[in-house]
Amino acid sequence: MRHLAAVCTLGLSLLLAACAVGDAGRPPVEPVSRLPPVPQPADNPATPQKVALGKQLFADPRLSGSGKMACQSCHYRNLGWTDAKVLSRKDDGVMNTRHTPTLYNVGYQTAWYWDGRATTLEGQVLAAWRAQIGADPAKATAVINAVPGYRQQFIAVWGAEATPDTVVKSLAAFFRSLVSTDSAWDRYEAGDRTAVSQAAIEGQALFVGKGRCSTCHAPPYYGNSTFFNIGLEHGKDKPDPGRFNVTKNEADRGAFKTPTLRSVELSAPYFHDGSAATLKDAVRYMASGGKPDPNKSALLQPTGLSEAEMDRIVSFLMSLTSTEPWQQPVLP
Ligand code: HEC
Ligand code: HEC
Repeated sequence: MRHLAAVCTLGLSLLLAACAVGDAGRPPVEPVSRLPPVPQPADNPATPQKVALGKQLFADPRLSGSGKMACQSCHYRNLGWTDAKVLSRKDDGVMNTRHTPTLYNVGYQTAWYWDGRATTLEGQVLAAWRAQIGADPAKATAVINAVPGYRQQFIAVWGAEATPDTVVKSLAAFFRSLVSTDSAWDRYEAGDRTAVSQAAIEGQALFVGKGRCSTCHAPPYYGNSTFFNIGLEHGKDKPDPGRFNVTKNEADRGAFKTPTLRSVELSAPYFHDGSAATLKDAVRYMASGGKPDPNKSALLQPTGLSEAEMDRIVSFLMSLTSTEPWQQPVLP
């Protein structure tokens, strides 16, 4: 329970429920798929004040080039930190070429973006600040420093007014708090036999057994920084090279990052190209073994799962939805 105590000290609101259980004196249980503490970089450890500051910046359109688009404009909490669109339009009016991914559990990853081209979360945040919301970081930082409520917070957290570096670090610290936690399945594994339906229990058995889904979507994350070609680009006019762009290794052509399946029910549509409209569609595609791309991963094969079995896998995936509280920040 060492890590739970550490997080309780941190006071992250999303874990208050877990801390409260400990406080009530009941023996704490250690579920199999409970997530470990998020690794914190030595030069940017989280504090509750820093996370609260990053949360405000995340929701603030004043950070953008136009002054109209926030990070949150494509990453909504109630949509599993995505935007319910196949592809979304950036601040400069240009369309993205890939679907908006979830921000849940990004703190555990080791490579960011669908192709893993960012090797630090801070680097990813800086890139998104420029590319998605069209900002000149120096200009946007001046706008932030002109807001007294921000100036005070930056001085309290960082000992000085905002710089592009401390804006980025505050945002990254907030992202490391976006842990998908306390799902029904986590409670079931912790011993609450009434937390999930019989269909979800059978679905989990199919997920690890006949469906072989956990080969790539292993607990506790159910997907992390590993890359596979699952055939989605096969037959397209201009196939997205995916991971190949980063490694220049032919074996990585058409490979994309394995998304976490925690809270996946909230984030339709699915896949890097947004091509699956519903969770059932995504499961059906995966269970089919994918399109016959010559570069497709050998780990993805037709499973022979029936429609009824796929429905049970969907029930299991729906039991992985996080129940942490969320409050929209008040902007200074
Ligand atoms: C216009 C929509 C849009 C906005 C606004 C937006 N994003 Fe994103 N975000 C995306 C898309 C699309 C991707 C995936 C791009 C890719 O993989 O090539 C992404 C990916 C990410 C990822 C990587 C997740 C992962 O699993 O690797 C992070 C972190 C992120 N965005 C943070 C931010 C931050 C910080 C901001 C504000 C500065 C922001 N986003 C604003 C659309 C958006
Ligand atoms: C070879 C590894 C592999 C196997 C096996 C696998 N997946 Fe996946 N899965 C991936 C990758 C990689 C992606 C993202 C690919 C992309 O978008 O190009 C993905 C995406 C998904 C998504 C969409 C998630 C999102 O947020 O867009 C779902 C749902 C999913 N898989 C469920 C399953 C199920 C259910 C099974 C078993 C029937 C399964 N997967 C088997 C690697 C795998």
